[in-house]
Amino acid sequence: MARILVIHGPNLNLLGERETTIYGSATLVSINHKLTQLAEDKKMLCSCFQSNHEGAIVDQLQQAHDNFDFIIINPAAYTHTSIAIRDALLAVNIPFIETHLSNPDKREVFRQHSYLADIAYGVISGMGAKSYELAMLAAIDYCQHNCI
Ligand code: DQA
Repeated sequence: MARILVIHGPNLNLLGERETTIYGSATLVSINHKLTQLAEDKKMLCSCFQSNHEGAIVDQLQQAHDNFDFIIINPAAYTHTSIAIRDALLAVNIPFIETHLSNPDKREVFRQHSYLADIAYGVISGMGAKSYELAMLAAIDYCQHNCI
């Protein structure tokens, strides 16, 4: 059974109430529910994790080694700052999609650099909660072709 890990970074626990004109009205619970449903429909396992703490995300990534086949990660603000999360993703060597609700390239200059994009399997952004769903469909497709 293919196993997909979804990681949400800081402030994404506030989805649905936080800057809704940018991030939309979907809550994190509803997004996780939809992602789990999509994976389970294909007999795959989906596990979702959110933290506001960089080290906790690094710990989660380290624990993913040998336990997950694919990662969907929205590192939120850590996208633009975290060498530690980049290094953890390189260390575990699990393919991942970087996902964003908004399109950071259309926003402030400081959001236009990602520490992860160049090592990602792919990047999906700008479509609100749909970004996550498209990332999950791509993860499922990857696992169908590459996971035992
Ligand atoms: C975000 C974009 C980041 O720049 C921002 O810090 C976030 C959310 C997004 O999903 O659009 O917290 O990752």
